[in-house]
Amino acid sequence: MTREQLFKQSIKVIKDGQHPTGGYVACPTFPTYNYSWFRDSAYIAYAMDLASEHDSAARFHSWAVRNILAREKALEEYFSGGATDYKELLHTRYTLEGDEGTEEWENFQLDSFGIWLWSVKEHLSLSESKADGPLIQAVNLVARYLTALWQTPCYDCWEENEDKVHIYTLATIYRGLICASEISGTDYSKTVLAVKNRIEKSGCAEGHLVKYEGIRAVDSSLLGAGFPCFVFDPDHPVMDATIKQIEADLLESGGLHRYRADTYYGGGIWILLTAWLGINEVLRGNQDKAEHILDWILSKAGEDGHLPEQLSEAMNDPSYLSHWNEKWGFSANPLLWSHAMYIILYMKLGLIK
Ligand code: BGC
Repeated sequence: MTREQLFKQSIKVIKDGQHPTGGYVACPTFPTYNYSWFRDSAYIAYAMDLASEHDSAARFHSWAVRNILAREKALEEYFSGGATDYKELLHTRYTLEGDEGTEEWENFQLDSFGIWLWSVKEHLSLSESKADGPLIQAVNLVARYLTALWQTPCYDCWEENEDKVHIYTLATIYRGLICASEISGTDYSKTVLAVKNRIEKSGCAEGHLVKYEGIRAVDSSLLGAGFPCFVFDPDHPVMDATIKQIEADLLESGGLHRYRADTYYGGGIWILLTAWLGINEVLRGNQDKAEHILDWILSKAGEDGHLPEQLSEAMNDPSYLSHWNEKWGFSANPLLWSHAMYIILYMKLGLIK
């Protein structure tokens, strides 16, 4: 398979995984992921916009707007001091029809909504379209929700560590609120500044960003503080030190782990994270390194051109693999988010003919 064939196949996997309602399934073959996650879908919609598939991205954003506005009453009640449980206001994932999940889940994940605001702004710019009334209303609701809750501990982007404040989560809120101001004309700059201050004050150790406040360890999601949240430019000294630390601690066999203690499916290496490193490297001017990463991903695609969530290689702790296989079946493949990150890397490398 060539680079271009995998690019085209990635678009197909995403189109096939988009439900008529507009929601993108996280993985079509892994029952636990038969939902649309705001986080995954924000990156997927952005990838589709970059690939000029604006209609697909627009249909996802309509799905998102419908689901946010369906929760407007509870959000307004919360904003006006009602006793509503803030953890239940917005869920990180909904069924493709827009309903809440039936199983127990770690629903309260603020990064999902910061990154959605970013993807809306990108969609409007890349598709050269104007925000309509319902979109602006949904954007403002989400921005007010983030403004109210940004200092509250929540689950991280790996749906863990509920009692911590995560630096990637803060990064998404920072960028999301900037985008919300640009889309709606409402000024969220006071919170934007406060978020940035907090990242600078308590999100760094030894010159690099940290996974969550109070520790020194890194997490690959910190790549997001470069692209796409641009809390720091990808070649800023803080990002430079963060990327070096991520590579030193988490890069193995050519791919990135989420974090050192990860045991999910044994804690293998993740396609989407490795692509994320490549995207930052393009922006740091390291084209060759980024192309090498792209080819590494290409070499890991199945014969059907499918990209998994993670590879069972260089696992942190292989003894956990059978536990997860028995619990939920083999790990997700194809993962739409992996395909999205390949598309983004491919486009950023300027490989489109
Ligand atoms: C990951 C999340 C992701 C979800 C769906 C989880 O295992 O930790 O980041 O959003 O899968 O892909």
